[in-house]
Amino acid sequence: MTFQVTTNSLGSKAEVYAQLAEQLRSLLAGEHDFIANAANFSALLFHSLPDVSWVGFYLHKEGELVLGPFQGKPACVRIAIGKGVCGTAAQQRQTILVDNVHDFPDHIACDSASNSEIVVPLLEGEELIGVLDLDSTLFARFSEEDAQWLNELAEIFLAAKRVEAIQ
Ligand code: SME
Repeated sequence: MTFQVTTNSLGSKAEVYAQLAEQLRSLLAGEHDFIANAANFSALLFHSLPDVSWVGFYLHKEGELVLGPFQGKPACVRIAIGKGVCGTAAQQRQTILVDNVHDFPDHIACDSASNSEIVVPLLEGEELIGVLDLDSTLFARFSEEDAQWLNELAEIFLAAKRVEAIQ
């Protein structure tokens, strides 16, 4: 199988993300393995979005977050719920946008070059599956528009997991 990651850097953010949603749907089509899909989802985001230094998952296991599939430099493996940006997003079950990670009291610095971050919780009803985390070396790289679109992409990703559950 070959998969072409097409970046439309001239398009608006909405156009780029709409195209990404289509690419993600075709990447996940017919494949329901959660880890495989998480790995491909992180690779798609990492290679499609500009100015992103790390993209990956922390998965909720036995009351903490454990590193899952990712793209970028090696990262810390375990994060307590409520700690760091990831743990806070998991605890609050809300997307967290951090324009300057050095101002976030509890930020966990896996990569000293990271300056901004967004974390999207992955929820299935009440159940916390994990979080999707993106880092950038730019300050204020992520906006509300990124947050909305990343939540939409996360929904597409989680929908493939639901198909897995009924098969
Ligand atoms: N900065 C995160 C830790 C994970 S790394 O960014 C990959 C945090 O504060 O939760």
